[in-house]
Amino acid sequence: MQIVKLGGSVITRKGGFEKANSPALRALCKEIAYARKKSREPLIIVHGAGSFGHPHVLKYKIRNGVRTPLQAQGFAKTHQSVQKLSALVASELMRAGVPCASIPPLAIVRTKNKKITEFCTDAIDSLLSLGITPVLYGDVVIDDALGGCVLSGDAIISALAKKARRLVLFTNVDGIYAGKALVREINSKNAPSILMHVGNSNHADVTGGMRGKLLELLKAKKPAFIANGSKPHVVRNVLLGKNAVCTRIN
Ligand SMILES: Nc1ncnc2c1ncn2[C@@H]1O[C@H](COP(=O)(O)OP(=O)(O)O)[C@@H](O)[C@H]1O
Ligand SMILES: [Mg+2]
Repeated sequence: MQIVKLGGSVITRKGGFEKANSPALRALCKEIAYARKKSREPLIIVHGAGSFGHPHVLKYKIRNGVRTPLQAQGFAKTHQSVQKLSALVASELMRAGVPCASIPPLAIVRTKNKKITEFCTDAIDSLLSLGITPVLYGDVVIDDALGGCVLSGDAIISALAKKARRLVLFTNVDGIYAGKALVREINSKNAPSILMHVGNSNHADVTGGMRGKLLELLKAKKPAFIANGSKPHVVRNVLLGKNAVCTRIN
């Protein structure tokens, strides 16, 4: 099984407000469908929120908790917005030939001080055994200390990693750069020096951007690949385990 993340930076226009990048999403879903058919390997899809989640989180200031009625409204708006994006993702996957169903993380995950304390994976497991691809996403969830918090797609991947053989994260760059050079492999030895080069996103990304992604993947203890989701041949090759430009994290 592979867990595949569709980065918010690929499937949405991160500079905008609730703007999907429909051509990129469609192309990505086609390649995923192709690779899935060819390899016959089941997938779990996780997608980011991009311009559907981050602007609400910033506007209503719900990054560090949900306490006031206004923040409660922000929590609800954020959830509604990421659900809308997930419906778009699911319909593009179905159109490309991948039977899938979107599961709201809000309904199956709880956190305490932003750390996952409960993750009920029954629905994910049951869908997989029916041959249906589960789709999860960056969402707001109930937090037993903070009221609510934002759970990134990257954190979901790391929490589900033990179910998978490998993790593949598609984003809007070819991988992780140290200065101008693309780093082809990151392991526990070179990670500290590479982390010095890794920052957030160019756009609003309330979940830590590339830095947050790398930190989650180092925790995951499964081979992980960060690759460019706007390059169809790269998507196909990475999913099929063929040579492709990307960063591998061990
Ligand atoms: N060292 C780095 N290598 C690659 N990207 C980096 C680095 N430091 C910061 N970034 C930024 O991280 C962005 C990808 O993270 P993010 O926007 O969170 O993607 P996603 O939407 O896929 O989660 C890149 O577009 C880039 O602007
Ligand atoms: Mg991100």
